[in-house]
Amino acid sequence: MNEFLQFYGANQISPVSQNLDDLELHFGRRIGLYRTLGLAASLFEGRDILEVAPGSGHNSIVTATFKARCYDLVEPNPTGFERMVGLFKEYKLCSDSVRFFNTRLDNFPEKKTYDIVICEGLIPGLGDQGVFLRQLAGKVRKGGILVVTCADAVSVFFESLRRYLARLLVHRLVDASGTRDGDLQAVRVLLPAFQPHLNALSGMSRPAEDWIWDNLLNPAAASLAASHEFSVERCLNVFGEEFYFYGSSPVFMSNWSWYKNLPLDPRDYNKAFADSFASQRHNFLHHDELSLSDGAASEPLYRFCRAFSLELEQRIPENWAAITSGTIGKDLAHVRSVHTITRQCGLRQSEAAIAEFLALFDGGRIPDAQTIGEMTAFRGAFGRGQQYLSLVRA
Ligand SMILES: C[S@@+](CC[C@H](N)C(=O)[O-])C[C@H]1O[C@@H](n2cnc3c(N)ncnc32)[C@H](O)[C@@H]1O
Repeated sequence: MNEFLQFYGANQISPVSQNLDDLELHFGRRIGLYRTLGLAASLFEGRDILEVAPGSGHNSIVTATFKARCYDLVEPNPTGFERMVGLFKEYKLCSDSVRFFNTRLDNFPEKKTYDIVICEGLIPGLGDQGVFLRQLAGKVRKGGILVVTCADAVSVFFESLRRYLARLLVHRLVDASGTRDGDLQAVRVLLPAFQPHLNALSGMSRPAEDWIWDNLLNPAAASLAASHEFSVERCLNVFGEEFYFYGSSPVFMSNWSWYKNLPLDPRDYNKAFADSFASQRHNFLHHDELSLSDGAASEPLYRFCRAFSLELEQRIPENWAAITSGTIGKDLAHVRSVHTITRQCGLRQSEAAIAEFLALFDGGRIPDAQTIGEMTAFRGAFGRGQQYLSLVRA
């Protein structure tokens, strides 16, 4: 049982719904995402598709229209599973080619391999990744395509800062045993602080309550930037012997090799992409800006973001309740280092947002929900969150 399943199960939630009011927009986004990854919708036609962890199926109803020969969906959380089946019925997408499995990947009984295997929003934050990733990779046929998501301490740094504020806001409410009431109450406390931030994010397609459950209260959201990170770098390391890099969203990779001179071994082929990522890490900090710097800032930026995330992950609820100004001062030292780097590499929006975050604590204050809700420069500061990668099995 991993942190996702424990947390969703204890609270009987599946906080991953998408706004379906404008179906054309939703379909356009999903089709566009897969096209960016090199997966035009026509590539699914007549193929065998496996989706692991579809949640409540809001994204899967789009994939279900691509005329796959077989579309298997493997979702263990009962709340998400029931909503997914309900959604497929509502949109009349149930057919002989669609099969639902209410189980974890390790208990999935089907032995065959697939042309396309999709696993979105699960691996970053998942403990014991090694076993899971081997099982996932084993489901992809030779020449088949694997789609996964990655995230790291830089790409979710602004979310980590919000988690920090959230922990301070709810520290008296959070029940150490993690009961449902405690968390429901926490959602109510956090809404006025963070709803204005989400309103400032154009393209936001999730209900604020879902976002708070999944990004501020779910323990997996803390570990995805720390002990259970799954960055683009790690993804290429783990899958790099058996898979070729194929595509990414956002599109940021460059490889100027002449096709006649491309390495045949996947490990060698992927090196150019791993280098491309390593030199651009700082550009994942803020969703709305890029730096013209040479990339020297990437490594120290990552190190300070990660140090902050590790502190955040390791602190138990009792220690949040009893937090002292000395501890806050130490936490903010990492944030100050990140702030200095944003100034050095000209990430002006990030610099202003972090300065406003730091100012919340001036004079030993701890900010309340209203003050957080009224932030200006910080309000629209969100990282590039999760990145999608597609890979082809060698
Ligand atoms: C954050 S949600 C992502 C849902 C959806 N893919 C999305 O991107 O919106 C993670 C999902 O992974 C599922 N999950 C957790 N452990 C799993 C496992 N071992 N095998 C399959 N699914 C799992 C959870 O139940 C949950 O629905």
